[in-house]
Amino acid sequence: MNDPRDLLRSWFRQRRELGDEELILEALSPDQLRELLSPVIPQRMGMEAARAAMQPGRSASERPGTRAEPMAERPRPASPARSAASPTSTVSTGSTDTPVIDRNAPPVPGVVETHRREGAPVPGSTPHPPAPRAPARYASAEEIRALPVLSEVRDLALGCPRCELAKTRKHVVFGEGREDADVLVVGEAPGQEEDRTGRPFVGKAGQLLDLLLLSSGFSREQVYICNVLKCRPPANRNPKPEEVDACSPYLLRQVELVQPRVILAFGNFAAQTLLGIDTPMGRMRGGAHQYRGIPLVPTYHPAACLRSPAWVRAVWEDLQRARALLDAA
Ligand code: URA
Repeated sequence: MNDPRDLLRSWFRQRRELGDEELILEALSPDQLRELLSPVIPQRMGMEAARAAMQPGRSASERPGTRAEPMAERPRPASPARSAASPTSTVSTGSTDTPVIDRNAPPVPGVVETHRREGAPVPGSTPHPPAPRAPARYASAEEIRALPVLSEVRDLALGCPRCELAKTRKHVVFGEGREDADVLVVGEAPGQEEDRTGRPFVGKAGQLLDLLLLSSGFSREQVYICNVLKCRPPANRNPKPEEVDACSPYLLRQVELVQPRVILAFGNFAAQTLLGIDTPMGRMRGGAHQYRGIPLVPTYHPAACLRSPAWVRAVWEDLQRARALLDAA
């Protein structure tokens, strides 16, 4: 069984990187907690701040980050989330002892940097060349569904004129990652940064997605990431039904070709499109869902978590469920 302290450490790191200073663990004495989190706390926040963070007085249900669920055992290479002692460089602001991220600090050897500059390559991955474009060519849904390999689907998608978004996009954001990934991540639609770079989830929501995935033992390199819509809706408005219909053949073929063992659907559009239902996320999440026999875990979109940080915990729990499904698969 994996050490639950690893989970606790990664949750603690994640909360801090989201700006949550407070960690309340009533059942533990400050000394026990310091011992438990060593060497995370001494490196990343002063002892006084650690002591101040451990305030008694809240009920268990209000305590974010105190649960450390053991993960099911599954042989796999050591994930960066587990081996990293500290994912970012930090400095103290002094008066409040609030650690902040020093983005200019040199990388620490053996440490995974989870806060990337927008559009910067994922550490450990091959650098991404400029996003390619392709001449416009209309293909029917049947033609798309008959393509034998992802590269051909992608080549076709890069010149797709199937909806009005073709007129306003800068790049088609087809998707990226391991073509034989166990985990398929599906989001809603590219945003500004994704439209600029041609890569999915590289803006602020993408940075949070990376953290959430890492905190659950999934690295970005292990998964395949794509969206329901491959083109950005102007001003990030909601996708229109006709756009979802026009783009769906690409997503469905991606699922068929990647053949994931678990699908993580982030946000209503991803989950509702794949499941063919209109149940809101609040009612959908936590239930057992499948897309064509593949377990599908619906959860809140990272952009929604940026607006409502309290939902991060729910997402983390959903990711733990995905982890367990994968381990059982
Ligand atoms: N939001 C999404 O749903 N997808 C992206 O790629 C970026 C933001």
